[in-house]
Parts: sequence; structure tokens; C-alpha cells
Amino acid sequence: MREGSGFKDRKCAECHRQFVPGTQGLHPIIDSWGCDACHVDAHTRPQKRYKWLVADPQELCVRCHAGKGFKGPVQHAPAKMRLCVTCHDPHVSAKKKLLVSEPPLLCFDCHKQEAFFRKVRHSPAADGSCLDCHLPHSGDNPKLLVDKKVCFNCHDEAGIMGKKVIHAPVKALRCAGCHDPHSSSREKLLVSDKLCFTCHKPEAFQGVSVHYPVKSGGCDSCHQPHQSDTPKLLSETVPGLCFTCHDETEFKGKKVVHYPVASGECTSCHSPHAGAAPFLMATEKICFECHDEKEFDGTGKHIKADPRWCVGCHNPHQSDNGHLLRKK
Ligand code: HEC
Ligand code: HEC
Ligand code: HEC
Ligand code: HEC
Ligand code: HEC
Ligand code: HEC
Ligand code: HEC
Ligand code: HEC
Ligand code: HEC
Ligand code: HEC
Ligand code: HEC
Ligand code: HEC
Ligand code: HEC
Ligand code: HEC
Repeated sequence: MREGSGFKDRKCAECHRQFVPGTQGLHPIIDSWGCDACHVDAHTRPQKRYKWLVADPQELCVRCHAGKGFKGPVQHAPAKMRLCVTCHDPHVSAKKKLLVSEPPLLCFDCHKQEAFFRKVRHSPAADGSCLDCHLPHSGDNPKLLVDKKVCFNCHDEAGIMGKKVIHAPVKALRCAGCHDPHSSSREKLLVSDKLCFTCHKPEAFQGVSVHYPVKSGGCDSCHQPHQSDTPKLLSETVPGLCFTCHDETEFKGKKVVHYPVASGECTSCHSPHAGAAPFLMATEKICFECHDEKEFDGTGKHIKADPRWCVGCHNPHQSDNGHLLRKK
């Protein structure tokens, strides 16, 4: 106890027994300075200030605690308003750091619990380790996160963003764009049943013809959500990707294979998602994207042909007959 205040304070503790110096969990300042670090002229009348405090409660604690931890650009509202005693007991507590109760219960005094107890729970949030991810007073990162890369304190960074192609929101560390960090009603803590369409416009995936796996919402049958060594986050390059579902022998092995098919450029004719024309094609005039329309106006050696008829005589992929003809 501070010199000169010893007697007075010991006196205080005679009646206010819960604050006896030396008690486990006592505010260290009581041990060193005594009660008058915060109270003056206790029990004198009239009571000059609330509980005879030396300053209003909102000013009191920051007289001694005003370090860096309280001055970050992102402030927790109750700490900013200096409502220190909503979370801390000024005198003594059986909980660590003089807390009135410990996380998560402490936090649930003000934050709704439901968001943490949905079907699929993220283990550190479920076990109440809120402080693994959040600072209690202030910090440099949005949402009081302890670190911009907080997720990688526990998850392997290379396993999520170590490959050549990284999905933009992953690169930007916007993990929460897809995962709820606390809990979710969906597997893998996903935030939506139509996850990809929360950012990608659904219009780009509609048309006269829609690819079956797109229609059924299976973006993941072709794309990886985080990263890939293949452009466009594909699980495999085209045409190998297509052959995971379509029979490869339909596209190679015969005497004549159409050049773009042989070179694996399936997407020069088919959109992988949807087309404005049948068979996932952008246009019914797909053949004229590469073959000169003028050669089919009937003036040359070829008959005058409507582009919709071409595949009546030619197989677009391959054939055992010359010129890709369906019949000799
Ligand atoms: C003789 C016993 C006794 C002593 C000694 C004593 N108190 Fe108290 N104190 C009480 C009682 C009884 C109350 C009223 C009950 C209550 O509010 O807890 C009280 C109330 C208080 C309060 C609360 C006032 C309020 O408005 O709620 C403060 C602060 C306080 N005491 C501080 C001190 C300090 C500091 C000392 C030492 C300088 C001290 N007391 C010494 C008995 C004592
Ligand atoms: C670090 C500052 C600080 C110190 C040191 C301190 N108090 Fe307090 N005390 C407070 C604050 C702040 C309140 C008001 C709490 C509130 O209203 O929630 C308070 C309230 C009280 C009360 C009212 C009852 C209660 O629990 O709210 C009593 C009694 C009391 N103090 C006694 C003491 C005694 C005795 C000592 C010394 C052993 C002491 N205090 C040391 C800050 C302090
Ligand atoms: C007169 C100076 C002073 C005042 C006023 C003061 N404290 Fe402290 N406090 C200290 C000192 C000294 C320590 C021990 C060193 C440290 O942790 O900074 C301490 C430690 C703490 C700790 C950490 C305890 C632990 O177990 O590690 C908490 C929490 C705390 N104070 C909260 C408060 C709150 C809340 C208030 C306002 C009600 C307050 N303090 C007012 C000086 C003060
Ligand atoms: C929303 C609740 C909350 C509020 C409000 C709050 N604190 Fe804390 N404080 C905590 C928690 C939780 C910890 C424990 C952090 C830990 O264990 O790492 C803590 C820790 C502390 C510590 C110990 C720091 C250390 O590194 O050991 C001090 C000192 C402290 N708080 C002072 C204050 C002061 C002063 C205020 C008011 C300006 C305040 N707190 C407001 C929740 C709060
Ligand atoms: C005394 C009430 C209170 C307590 C206790 C409390 N909070 Fe808060 N918290 C608030 C308020 C008020 C806001 C700001 C309003 C809002 O955005 O919901 C907030 C906002 C937040 C934010 C968002 C900050 C931002 O920048 O958007 C986080 C994260 C947070 N609290 C975490 C916690 C954690 C973790 C705990 C427990 C250690 C906790 N809170 C305890 C009142 C509280
Ligand atoms: C694994 C890390 C992690 C844990 C553990 C965690 N949080 Fe969070 N929390 C986050 C992230 C990340 C965000 C930001 C989400 C976003 O940007 O939408 C967040 C946001 C918040 C918010 C602000 C919500 C909003 O809509 O603005 C609150 C409040 C909050 N957390 C409280 C808690 C509480 C209470 C606990 C403990 C029960 C906890 N958090 C545990 C990572 C975590
Ligand atoms: C404190 C450690 C820790 C931190 C920080 C952390 N996680 Fe986790 N996470 C775990 C543990 C433990 C599991 C469960 C173990 C497992 O299934 O691999 C897990 C599982 C997951 C799962 C799979 C859930 C399931 O149902 O299979 C996802 C998704 C996840 N975390 C995302 C995140 C995101 C996003 C962040 C950053 C906001 C993050 N984690 C931060 C520890 C952590
Ligand atoms: C574009 C949406 C999206 C983003 C952004 C995203 N994820 Fe995921 N994440 C997913 C999907 C979808 C799965 C489920 C994959 C599966 O089931 O194979 C997943 C699975 C996970 C898993 C569980 C892995 C496993 O094998 O169970 C973890 C951990 C994870 N993500 C962490 C993160 C972290 C950390 C970030 C931020 C750096 C992040 N995710 C960003 C969509 C995303
Ligand atoms: C949080 C927002 C967000 C979500 C959710 C999201 N994306 Fe993305 N995605 C982006 C952004 C931003 C880009 C980069 C800009 C662009 O190309 O539109 C991108 C780009 C892509 C690319 C092109 C990558 C490249 O290297 O060119 C693919 C493929 C992709 N996303 C697939 C998906 C799939 C599949 C899902 C669902 C699992 C999904 N996205 C969910 C934001 C998102
Ligand atoms: C059958 C496989 C397959 C499915 C299923 C699939 N994609 Fe793709 N996606 C591709 C291929 C192949 C590319 C590359 C196209 C190219 O390079 O011309 C691509 C490209 C993209 C791009 C980049 C934009 C662009 O045009 O370059 C985005 C974004 C995208 N896909 C999102 C999605 C979403 C969202 C879903 C689910 C609704 C989905 N994909 C389903 C195969 C697929
Ligand atoms: C995940 C499995 C899967 C992958 C990978 C896949 N497809 Fe498909 N595709 C299907 C299914 C299922 C159908 C519908 C089958 C049916 O109706 O016979 C289909 C139908 C088609 C059709 C006919 C569409 C229509 O409107 O009749 C075309 C063209 C097509 N796929 C092209 C491709 C191309 C090009 C690729 C590679 C970029 C590819 N597919 C990759 C599963 C897949
Ligand atoms: C030169 C344009 C062109 C290229 C390149 C092309 N296709 Fe086709 N494909 C067509 C046309 C036109 C049709 C519809 C006409 C028909 O076969 O009757 C079609 C039909 C299909 C069908 C549905 C009918 C069927 O035969 O099962 C699938 C699946 C298909 N293509 C897959 C592929 C794959 C996989 C590749 C790459 C290996 C590919 N296509 C390359 C033009 C092309
Ligand atoms: C992406 C460009 C491209 C598209 C689209 C395209 N072709 Fe071709 N086609 C070629 C190339 C390159 C050749 C080989 C060039 C050459 O030998 O003159 C070729 C050759 C042919 C041949 C001659 C094969 C031979 O062995 O003589 C026929 C027939 C043919 N294409 C029909 C079609 C039909 C029908 C369509 C529309 C369904 C079409 N092509 C769409 C690029 C394309
Ligand atoms: C009535 C059947 C028929 C239709 C319809 C047809 N072709 Fe042909 N095409 C042939 C025959 C037969 C040959 C071989 C002519 C020869 O041996 O000189 C041929 C040859 C070709 C050749 C290779 C020879 C060359 O002229 O370079 C191309 C390319 C071709 N056709 C493209 C097309 C396109 C594109 C269409 C649609 C606009 C189309 N064909 C419509 C029957 C047809």
C-alpha cells in the first residue's frame, strides 16, 4: 500500500472484506495504491461524486490504461464509450483479467447468441475462443480481427492460396464472403445455397440451352473454390475436363477429326455454361465463325447452305468419311 494511506485502506478492508489486499484476482492497483487510487474521502457527506470516485467512471480507468491497445483505428463500441466496468470488475474477480464473466458468455451479454449456434459450428467459435480472432478493445483490422490473415493462424495457407491461380475473394482474404466464421446451417460453414451467384451474375448462366451441371448448381464439378494450377480455377484443362463426363471416343479415333476438336478447343464452339443457341452455342452460325460465309452462298463449288444445315451432312467432331461427312 502507498505510504500514508495504509491505515485508512486497511480500515476500509475491515468492513469491505471482499477487497482485502493480497486476495487472488485483486486489481493490482489496490495492492499497491489502495482504495484512494479511485475513491477519495469515502463516507464523507454529502457524497461529492458517484461512489466517492476521483473521476467519473468513464474517465477513471483511462487515467492509467490508455495504451496502444485502446487507440487502434477500429474501436469496439463499449470500450470506445469507456464502459469498462460492463466487462471488468474494478476491484476483484475470480475470472482472469478482472472480467465479470468470460467469453463467450461475456460477449453474449450484448451479441445475439443465435448466430453462433447454427447446425454447423466453427470449432473455435463454438468453444468460446472469441479472443483467438477478435481483440476486446480496439485494433487495426475491420471487425476487430487480431490479424488480417487470422484464418491462417490455424489453416494451412498454401493449401488455400499457394497455387498459380487464386480466386479473387480468396486473394483479398474475403473468406467471409463464402464462409460464416461462427456457424452456418450449411456444410463447410458456407453462407448461401447459391454461393457462386452471390457475386457472379446469374444471367451469364442462362440461355436457350443450359449445361446440365450448371442447371443443377454444380459449379464445383468443374471449378475449385479457392485455387488451381489451371486458368479459370478449373479442376482440369479442357478437353480433359469435358471427358470426365463425356465419352472421349466420340471425339477422337476416327479417320478425320475436325481441327478444333483435335486441338481440344471444345469451347471455341460450346460455352461450358449456357448458349443463346442449342447445344450450348453462342450462335446458330457457329460454322461461320471460322469458315468464310461467302463460300457457302452457292456461287462456289459448295451448295448454298443455311448454317443450321451444316451438321445435317457433316459431323462437327469426327468421322470415318472424308470432309467429316456423316455418310459417304
Ligand atoms: C465501518 C465499516 C466501513 C468502513 C471502515 C468503510 N466502509 Fe465503505 N461502506 C460501508 C457500508 C456499510 C457501506 C454501505 C453498504 C454498501 O453500499 O455496500 C459502504 C459503502 C461504501 C461505498 C459505496 C457507496 C455507494 O454510494 O454505494 C464505497 C465506495 C465505500 N464504502 C468505500 C469505502 C472506502 C474507500 C473505505 C476506506 C476509506 C471504506 N468504505 C471504509 C462500511 C464501511
Ligand atoms: C481502480 C479503481 C478503484 C479502486 C482502486 C477501488 N475502487 Fe471501489 N469502485 C470503483 C468503481 C469504478 C466503482 C463503481 C462501480 C460501478 O458503479 O459499477 C466502485 C464501487 C465501489 C463500491 C460500491 C459497491 C460496488 O461494488 O459497486 C465499494 C463498496 C467500493 N468501491 C469499495 C472500494 C474499496 C474498499 C476499495 C479499496 C479496497 C476500492 N473500492 C478500490 C473503482 C475502484
Ligand atoms: C491509478 C491507476 C489505475 C487505475 C485508475 C485503474 N487501473 Fe487497472 N491496473 C493498474 C495497474 C498498475 C495494473 C497492473 C499493471 C497492468 O496490468 O497494467 C492494472 C491492471 C488492470 C487489469 C489487468 C489485471 C490482470 O489480472 O492482469 C485490468 C483488467 C484493469 N487494470 C482494469 C481496470 C479498470 C476496468 C479500471 C477502471 C475501473 C482500472 N483498471 C483503473 C492501474 C490502474
Ligand atoms: C467488451 C468487454 C470489454 C470492455 C468494454 C473493456 N474490456 Fe478490457 N478486456 C476485455 C477482455 C475480454 C480482456 C482479456 C483479454 C485477454 O485475455 O487477452 C480485457 C483485458 C483488459 C486488460 C488487460 C490487458 C492485458 O493485456 O493484460 C486491461 C488493462 C483492460 N482490459 C482494461 C480495460 C479498460 C481500461 C477498458 C475501458 C476503456 C476496458 N478494458 C474495456 C474486455 C473488455
Ligand atoms: C457491453 C456490450 C458489449 C459486449 C459485452 C461485447 N460487445 Fe461487441 N459490440 C458491442 C456493440 C454496441 C458493437 C457495435 C454495434 C454493432 O456493430 O453491432 C459491437 C461490435 C462488435 C464487433 C464488430 C466490430 C466492428 O468493427 O464492426 C465485434 C467483432 C465484437 N463486437 C466482438 C465482441 C466480442 C468478441 C465480445 C466478447 C469478448 C464482445 N463483442 C462483447 C457491444 C458489446
Ligand atoms: C475463427 C475466427 C473467429 C472466431 C473464433 C470468432 N469470430 Fe467473430 N468474426 C470473425 C470474422 C472473420 C468476422 C467478420 C465477418 C465479416 O466480415 O462478415 C467476425 C465478425 C464478428 C462480429 C461482427 C458481426 C457483424 O455482423 O458485423 C461479432 C459481433 C463477432 N464476430 C463476435 C464474435 C464472438 C462473440 C465470438 C465468440 C463466441 C466470435 N466472434 C468468434 C471471426 C471469428
Ligand atoms: C483458432 C484456430 C482456427 C482459426 C483462427 C480458424 N479456424 Fe477454421 N477451423 C478450425 C478447426 C479446429 C476446424 C475443425 C477441424 C477440421 O475439421 O479440420 C476448422 C474448420 C473450418 C472449416 C470447415 C468446417 C467444416 O464444417 O468442415 C472452414 C470452412 C473453416 N474452418 C474456415 C475458417 C475461416 C474462414 C477462418 C478465418 C475467418 C478460420 N477457419 C479460422 C480452427 C480455426
Ligand atoms: C468463393 C467462395 C470461397 C471463398 C472466398 C473461400 N472459400 Fe473456403 N471453401 C469454399 C467452398 C465451396 C468449400 C467447400 C469445398 C469442398 O467441399 O470441397 C470451402 C472449404 C474450405 C475449408 C474446408 C476444407 C476442407 O477440406 O474441408 C476451409 C478450411 C476453408 N474453405 C477456408 C477458407 C479460408 C481460410 C478462406 C479465405 C482465405 C476461404 N476458405 C475462402 C468456398 C470459399
Ligand atoms: C465473394 C464474391 C465471390 C463469390 C462468392 C464467388 N466469386 Fe468467383 N470471382 C469473384 C471475383 C471478384 C472474381 C474476379 C473478377 C471476375 O472475373 O469477375 C471472380 C472470378 C472467378 C472466376 C475466374 C477466375 C479467373 O482466374 O479468371 C471463376 C472461374 C470463378 N470466379 C468461379 C466461382 C465459383 C465457381 C464460385 C462459387 C464456388 C464463385 N466464383 C464465387 C468473386 C466471387
Ligand atoms: C462443365 C464445366 C463447368 C461448369 C459446370 C461450370 N463452369 Fe465455369 N467455366 C468453365 C470453363 C471451361 C471456363 C473457361 C471458359 C473459357 O476459358 O472460355 C469457365 C469459366 C468461368 C468463369 C470465368 C468467366 C469467363 O467467361 O472467363 C466464371 C466466373 C465461371 N466459369 C463461373 C462458373 C459458375 C458460377 C458456375 C456454376 C454456376 C460454373 N462456372 C460452372 C467450365 C465450367
Ligand atoms: C460434370 C460432368 C460434365 C462435364 C465436366 C461436362 N459435361 Fe457436358 N454435359 C453433361 C451432362 C450430364 C449433359 C447432359 C447429358 C445429356 O443430355 O445427354 C451434358 C451435355 C452437354 C452438351 C449438350 C448440351 C445440350 O444442350 O444438349 C454439350 C454440348 C456439352 N455437354 C459440352 C461439354 C463440354 C464442351 C464440356 C467441357 C468444357 C463438358 N460438356 C463438360 C455433363 C458434363
Ligand atoms: C466446330 C465446333 C465444335 C467443336 C470444336 C466441338 N463441338 Fe461439340 N458439337 C458441335 C455441334 C454443332 C453440336 C451439335 C450438332 C450435332 O452433333 O448434332 C455438338 C454437339 C456436342 C454434344 C452433344 C451431342 C453429342 O454428340 O453427344 C457434346 C456432348 C459435345 N458436342 C461435346 C464436345 C466436346 C467435349 C468437344 C471438345 C472435345 C466438342 N464438342 C467440340 C460443335 C462442336
Ligand atoms: C474454331 C474454328 C472452326 C469452327 C467454329 C468450325 N470449323 Fe470447320 N474447320 C476448322 C479448321 C481449322 C479446319 C481445317 C482447315 C482446313 O483444312 O481448311 C476445318 C475443317 C472443316 C471441314 C473439312 C474437313 C476435311 O477434312 O476436309 C469441314 C467439313 C468443316 N470444317 C465443317 C465445319 C462445320 C460443319 C462447322 C460448324 C458446325 C465448322 N466446321 C466450324 C475450324 C473451324
Ligand atoms: C447437303 C450436304 C451438305 C451441307 C448441308 C453442307 N455441306 Fe459441306 N460438304 C458437303 C460435301 C458433300 C462436301 C465434300 C465436297 C467435295 O468433295 O468437294 C463438303 C465439304 C465441305 C468442306 C470442305 C471442303 C471445302 O470446301 O473446303 C467444308 C469446310 C464444308 N463442307 C463446310 C460446310 C459448312 C460450313 C456448311 C454449312 C454452312 C456445310 N458444309 C453444309 C456436303 C454438305
